[in-house]
Amino acid sequence: MIWRAAAGLARLLPPEAAHRAAVETLRRRIGPSPDLDDMPVEVAGLSFHNPLGLAAGFDKDAACPDGALRLGFGHVELGTITPLAQPGNPRPRVFRLPQDRAVINRYGFNSNGMEQAAARLAARRGTTSRHPGIVGINVGANKTSDMPTDDYRTAVARLVPYADYITLNISSPNTPGLRDLQAGDNLRRTIAAGRDGMAEAGFMCPLFVKIAPDLEDGDIDTICATALDEGIDGLIATNTTIARPETLRSPHAAESGGLSGAPLFERATHVLAAIARRLPADGPALVGVGGVASGWQAYAKILVGASLVQLYSGLALEGPDLPGRVVSELAVLLKADGHESIAVARGSIPDAGEAIQHALRLAQSA
Ligand SMILES: Cc1cc2nc3c(=O)[nH]c(=O)nc-3n(C[C@H](O)[C@H](O)[C@H](O)COP(=O)(O)O)c2cc1C
Repeated sequence: MIWRAAAGLARLLPPEAAHRAAVETLRRRIGPSPDLDDMPVEVAGLSFHNPLGLAAGFDKDAACPDGALRLGFGHVELGTITPLAQPGNPRPRVFRLPQDRAVINRYGFNSNGMEQAAARLAARRGTTSRHPGIVGINVGANKTSDMPTDDYRTAVARLVPYADYITLNISSPNTPGLRDLQAGDNLRRTIAAGRDGMAEAGFMCPLFVKIAPDLEDGDIDTICATALDEGIDGLIATNTTIARPETLRSPHAAESGGLSGAPLFERATHVLAAIARRLPADGPALVGVGGVASGWQAYAKILVGASLVQLYSGLALEGPDLPGRVVSELAVLLKADGHESIAVARGSIPDAGEAIQHALRLAQSA
């Protein structure tokens, strides 16, 4: 209750100020710390306490991984971190769409760069007060880079010593040209750059690729074939969308940038299902992101094939007790379906529409 009230107060601030305040609050480890039963998931050789993670974009500068994990997440994905510090786009660049339970952002990878993040993560490593949980690091290219793939290699080489997994973000709509890296040979080259970065640093860890929701079937075919060919450990689906569904009612609906939150849920879940259909069960792990703000939505993503689920906008709109609520609700739904683990439930309803209906009905009757 108190955290809902705090979230309500934060909504009185402009969205970017509220975001900064939330990061600072979590840096001080202020927030709910729910006592959750473990819901273990093994992905790419990593053991997650539960399948829910904080999606990239909240903690772009590795300021508060422990404060975020304390909220009940099994993992946090830091970033997107670029090699060099850069200011991002002019303000305002993030907008709440309250009537639509959505956010539009065009931050444009504002970041203090990899050196500051590496220093913070090195300092964290030296402390005993780390909160248990998996820390992934999401990397991207600087806006002014002539050779974006070099930026991925550089950022991975610098940050991999501190990462449980690395994500190559090639799907932000706010860096011109970035999403072209999802196509054919570009994707292959970007993955190779990530691997080169690991080799250069002498540290190996699982490599994930994060993709956009605005993809044609042919693009999804290519991405899946390349992911399999290259032995990618995971695909994260999806980033924000440049689409603007006609249902949007909020005054800021026409702002440019990436849309996230409730209006993305179905689209992102369909893309996730389309990917799952094209990959063998022992292929790259799938991480479902987009519009999750309840246990049934997380469950729907697992039913179509996700091993892990992430959220961001729900946290911004509903407040810091959301992660604990989602994990608890998810446990109830798993049990109601008689599934002993996430691994058993994963992929058991491959059709996105059916999975969404099933999860929603189950939640309504639970
Ligand atoms: C304000 C904001 C900033 C974001 N920044 C990043 C980012 O830097 N890197 C990234 O990979 N995704 C970023 N995202 C996308 C989220 O990680 C996530 O993929 C997307 O918002 C869909 O999930 P959601 O509906 O739960 O927010 C950002 C999202 C928001 C709302």
